[in-house]
Amino acid sequence: MRILIVGGKGTIGQAVVEKLKDAHELILAGRTSGDVQVDLTSVDSIEAMFKKVGHVDAIVNASGAAKFQLVEEMTPEDNLVAVQSKLLGQINLALIGQKYLRHDGSITLTTGIMKDDPIPGGASAAMANGGVAAFVKSAAIDFTHGIRINCVSPNVLVESYDNYQDSFKGFVPVPAERVAMAYVKSVEGKQTGQEYQVY
Ligand SMILES: NC(=O)c1ccc[n+]([C@@H]2O[C@H](COP(=O)([O-])OP(=O)(O)OC[C@H]3O[C@@H](n4cnc5c(N)ncnc54)[C@H](OP(=O)(O)O)[C@@H]3O)[C@@H](O)[C@H]2O)c1
Repeated sequence: MRILIVGGKGTIGQAVVEKLKDAHELILAGRTSGDVQVDLTSVDSIEAMFKKVGHVDAIVNASGAAKFQLVEEMTPEDNLVAVQSKLLGQINLALIGQKYLRHDGSITLTTGIMKDDPIPGGASAAMANGGVAAFVKSAAIDFTHGIRINCVSPNVLVESYDNYQDSFKGFVPVPAERVAMAYVKSVEGKQTGQEYQVY
């Protein structure tokens, strides 16, 4: 398969690349990293990326930003970071990317544990994660031509835990390699409308 991986040079992305690279042709994308440049917060940038890349069998996203801020201190502008990146960025990738998917292609997006297991300051990210998960479940029944869509909801990663441990007290981090297997299930399997929770 020809697979586009946005965020392919990131912590999760690299683990996904490791699992898929021997069996597939991978195209990695990032704002500055990878084979092709894209900023998911810009519709024009997503369109330009697909014009360069052309048709693919699978689209994977392992990127998305949010501002971590206690709700009592959060402004509408703070919340827009997650809306534009994690929420709309991923949904726009799916909406534009569907035109570039071959028959039986798939889309795999990324959410995260904090929508199910709240952490302080995580409400904005949780909002975006919940929106993406609901979009995936609902969009799956609209697609024809065998197009599938799923998302992966990782726990905090072992590889990221040093940076995030103050916010994730009592969480049991999961290795990136285990999270990557959920992306493999989405890309190489047959399921659709799923959220793979790797908790
Ligand atoms: N790490 C965790 O513990 C964890 C747990 C649950 C969920 N998640 C979620 O999983 C996603 C990936 O996490 P990660 O830890 O792998 O992140 P990461 O290590 O920071 O990597 C992010 C990757 O995405 C690219 N990227 C960032 N913003 C982008 C944008 N606007 N457009 C296109 N590419 C962009 C980056 O490359 P460039 O810098 O070149 O753009 C980089 O390759 C995030 O949404 C994160 O919230 C992470």
